[in-house]
Amino acid sequence: MTAPETDAKQPQRVREMFGRIVPRYDLMNRVMSGGFDRRWRRLAAAAAEPLNCRVLDIGTGTGDLARELRRQGARQVVGGDFTRPMLLAARNKPALARDGGVVWVQADALHLPFPDASFDAVTSGFVLRNLHDLPAGLREMLRVLTPGGRLVALDITHPPAGAMGSVLQTGFQRVVTPIAGLLSGDRDAYRYLPSSLEGFPTAEALEQLLREAGAAHASHRRLGGGSVALHSARKPAV
Ligand SMILES: C[S@@+](CC[C@H](N)C(=O)[O-])C[C@H]1O[C@@H](n2cnc3c(N)ncnc32)[C@H](O)[C@@H]1O
Repeated sequence: MTAPETDAKQPQRVREMFGRIVPRYDLMNRVMSGGFDRRWRRLAAAAAEPLNCRVLDIGTGTGDLARELRRQGARQVVGGDFTRPMLLAARNKPALARDGGVVWVQADALHLPFPDASFDAVTSGFVLRNLHDLPAGLREMLRVLTPGGRLVALDITHPPAGAMGSVLQTGFQRVVTPIAGLLSGDRDAYRYLPSSLEGFPTAEALEQLLREAGAAHASHRRLGGGSVALHSARKPAV
């Protein structure tokens, strides 16, 4: 299923919006997740089994997942993003600036500038929702994986059905979205957060999309009371 080609998800618009919120991006993450984003990235990094591996973190933003992958023993991490100011912020973080095991590359998730089978794992944190052609993005991630390599995707998801889901939905609309607007100081970013979920598949449907893109062993678990999903899959071994 492809997300509708809404104006909000046009690549140029997405890139400009993320470029504008760079200075407040980390603070927004901490506040909007109630500080849980660090734990979610730890779990995502662990699912990629990074020890001694070469990992691509696509849509790396300010580099927090790339950093966590290195902390968990990745030999090399390539942090890719199509928003240059994000990459500059990542590169300038003290802990990352001194780390020769991380390389920053301006890259579009839909057209990755890497040969087939270049990485043992590909990770993404809060990125898939932003892609205007999600199946193409998943196919690209699988293309650059070695056979047997791990694909890990962490993102906000549609809350599960039922009472808990309604509470999460209301919290997202009435609390998280206004906080995003306030902290970012950017009207577009305020509107973008809820619209980025429009047309984005449910966690179950994303698992199915991974299979349709050619992945094996696709599975997911919910975090954050069900508001976040951690998907993992493998490129089939030949
Ligand atoms: C919500 S931020 C997530 C940043 C980081 N992964 C994290 O965990 O905080 C989404 C990032 O994905 C990047 N992005 C969105 N679409 C992209 C694409 N097509 N190719 C590469 N990067 C993209 C944005 O520039 C932004 O830095």
